[in-house]
Amino acid sequence: MMAYAAPGLLAPSGDFAGVVQPFPRIGPRPAAVDGLIYRDPAMQAVVQRADRIARSDASVLIHGESGTGKEVIARYIHRTSPRHAGPFVAVNCAAIPEHLLESELFGHERGSFSGASGQRIGKLEAAQNGTILLDEISEMDRRLQAKLLRALQEREIDRIGGRAPIRLNVRILATTNRDLEQEVVRNNFRADLYFRLNVVAIHVPGLRDRKLDIPALAEHFIEKYRWENGRSERRLSPAALDALIAHDWPGNVRELENAIHRALVLTTDSWIDIGALEVVSRPTPARPADRAGSESAFAGLPLHLLERDAIIGTLRLTGGNRTRTATILGLSIRALRNKIGQYAAQGIEVPPSTAARTP
Ligand SMILES: Nc1ncnc2c1ncn2[C@@H]1O[C@H](COP(=O)(O)OP(=O)(O)OP(=O)(O)O)[C@@H](O)[C@H]1O
Ligand SMILES: [Mg+2]
Repeated sequence: MMAYAAPGLLAPSGDFAGVVQPFPRIGPRPAAVDGLIYRDPAMQAVVQRADRIARSDASVLIHGESGTGKEVIARYIHRTSPRHAGPFVAVNCAAIPEHLLESELFGHERGSFSGASGQRIGKLEAAQNGTILLDEISEMDRRLQAKLLRALQEREIDRIGGRAPIRLNVRILATTNRDLEQEVVRNNFRADLYFRLNVVAIHVPGLRDRKLDIPALAEHFIEKYRWENGRSERRLSPAALDALIAHDWPGNVRELENAIHRALVLTTDSWIDIGALEVVSRPTPARPADRAGSESAFAGLPLHLLERDAIIGTLRLTGGNRTRTATILGLSIRALRNKIGQYAAQGIEVPPSTAARTP
């Protein structure tokens, strides 16, 4: 599940050929340089949904706050889909000026408009037999929305100034960090295109709502940047992990990644301590001295998250059997049912009951 644990991925020898390498890389290259790390049940539910969606060819709208990993999920869907051998092409609709976005997407023929010096293949065509990610789709203007809708409906595109239409076999993924439904209500986004893109939706929760991911992500980024900067082994101090878990993460995973990167660049100690992380968070209670350097995987994690993880994990182990789960965890059935009800109300996927099969 955690791709970075995959052994034996050594840095390919040709990787940096001809490039002056400022740092000697130490140890094997972490495998999941662009991988998807997750541990929290909230994120496990997202990945399960992505797994199911990947098998189909449906358009997907991925929404969530900035930095939550929407693009990471999009790449995961492509990688695990039947189109994985085809190209994955990402277009950021917010970063490209409006008048250029059309030719970026659809391409153009030589001389079709002033400034069109040569023929150009558009990104939709470049994604042929693969997947296109339309990033920040809410930023596309209405005229282009209409043209995109036509292309999706007819499954063909016209290059600007081109004569024959080109057949299109591309899967569409789109992301937004705005509420696209609201944009439809405000008349900024076409309802028909919205429905076309939103065949299935994935919501990527904010990092503050999946805090069990924090230790795994932190470890992953430590490995990534330690390796990239030629540093030897680094560990988070227990107090630093506390601070990461207490923090609210308005910038989500990207903010965590930057905090770890900065800490690795700025310090040379083998322990990364709070000061190096520079995350401003609620003060955390001091730990007893004897906990410093603790090897416990649970150190610094909020108990209610550990409880949730234990309950859902045990339900999976028992195939959803409530009675056995309650016995294993030392809970009453009633207490277990209450917890399960709470998780379901929070939208967290709970393994279904097998009560009918139990005596
Ligand atoms: N689950 C994850 N595992 C590993 N890395 C992640 C994960 N989620 C996000 N990242 C990393 O965090 C950074 C931000 O992720 P990404 O670009 O996918 O976010 P986003 O939701 O598309 O953000 P934005 O809305 O700003 O475009 C990237 O460097 C990405 O590699
Ligand atoms: Mg993005």
